Amino acid sequence: MATDIAVTSEPRTSDCWDPETDNRLVCIDVHDETHDVKSFTLASPQGKRISFEAGQYFLFEPEIDAEENGRCYSISSSPLRTNAITVTVKRVAGGKVSNWLHDNLKPGMELPASGPMGKFNRPKAGKYLMLSGGSGITPVMAMVRELADKAEPVDVFFLHAGRSPLDLLFREELSVLARRMKGLRLLFLPEVLTGDPSWPGLNGRISKALLSLVVPDIAARNILCCGPAPFMAAARAISAELGVPPERYLEESFDAAVIEDLPAPSEGQAVVATYKVQFAKQQKVLEVSAEQTVLACAKKMGVRLPSSCANGICGTCKSKLVSGAVDMKHEGGIRQREIDAGFFLPCCSRPLSDLVIDR
Ligand SMILES: Cc1cc2nc3c(=O)[nH]c(=O)nc-3n(C[C@H](O)[C@H](O)[C@H](O)COP(=O)(O)OP(=O)(O)OC[C@H]3O[C@@H](n4cnc5c(N)ncnc54)[C@H](O)[C@@H]3O)c2cc1C
Ligand code: FES
Repeated sequence: MATDIAVTSEPRTSDCWDPETDNRLVCIDVHDETHDVKSFTLASPQGKRISFEAGQYFLFEPEIDAEENGRCYSISSSPLRTNAITVTVKRVAGGKVSNWLHDNLKPGMELPASGPMGKFNRPKAGKYLMLSGGSGITPVMAMVRELADKAEPVDVFFLHAGRSPLDLLFREELSVLARRMKGLRLLFLPEVLTGDPSWPGLNGRISKALLSLVVPDIAARNILCCGPAPFMAAARAISAELGVPPERYLEESFDAAVIEDLPAPSEGQAVVATYKVQFAKQQKVLEVSAEQTVLACAKKMGVRLPSSCANGICGTCKSKLVSGAVDMKHEGGIRQREIDAGFFLPCCSRPLSDLVIDR
């Protein structure tokens, strides 16, 4: 018998989160993952569906001490669950936002948030090696959860490194997933055995010997890596040594201190100008090349400067420019009125003259 009922699985546009106009999320759940990591689940206050790709992040801007503070957090939940996103946050010693979230964000509270953003996306075909250190597990966890939800055949080697067995994230959930996903193999690698001296597996740091032993076909895999800067530097170097082509090695940095060294100018090449950059409060003066961002040089030389995205998005590094001029290419992390008031973002600014910065 014919019916008049039109069935559609596509939501109406008004039911979907619009990254251009929607800018608040409401917390609907908080739970502990480890002694210093919590997961926060957030939804649109209007119940809109949030579309994103595994590997992307949101920018949260809680008001703390009457100041807006932008920090990025990767989504750890599966993109196939669109009614709410989960972010998983580690407390950072002395850190403003991570500790504020742990101590204050409760179900029912709203938060200024924008996203999703980011290009750390999984190539859609092939075998994977997912390498994560500490809280860097979050974007790759979203990828594994997505693969689990899709229930398609996979070939994933998932290595998660942490400080100690007590710091390893999502251990139980990953073990449950590996029981039903035949192509998912796991290796948890604590650096030290504090808290669990009878840990049955390997411990230590990732090395060429370890990776060539546990993933002998590493050169044929897509590598997806996220973790602290030294962990990623080691993963990058080992992958190259073991024959992974650069285009199959993808990484996400949570740490703006990941700095590329500029090559020295070769003969015949114009010498790039350098400028004196003074950090007034810390009484430090650096030589910064016109090709380098102020943040990259400051981090390298041990100047203390808060930062998060390193891409001019979050505003974490916003600083007052007392004198001088910069070439700033930001992505919305600073407002025109702040620029007019003399502020700039060192992560996406190159010097055009000597600078004095109020830091
Ligand atoms: C794309 C992206 C995704 C991310 N995803 C995650 C995630 O999934 N989970 C997660 O836990 N984190 C994630 N992060 C990191 C996160 O954005 C924050 O950087 C982190 O939570 C620390 O923020 P905070 O405000 O607590 O620390 P901050 O206040 O920014 O401080 C960081 C460090 O700098 C020091 N410091 C702060 N201010 C100063 C100053 N003026 N002078 C000297 N030192 C100072 C602090 O003591 C602390 O050690 C991500 C970052 C990026 C860029
Ligand atoms: S670190 Fe995000 S804007 Fe500079």
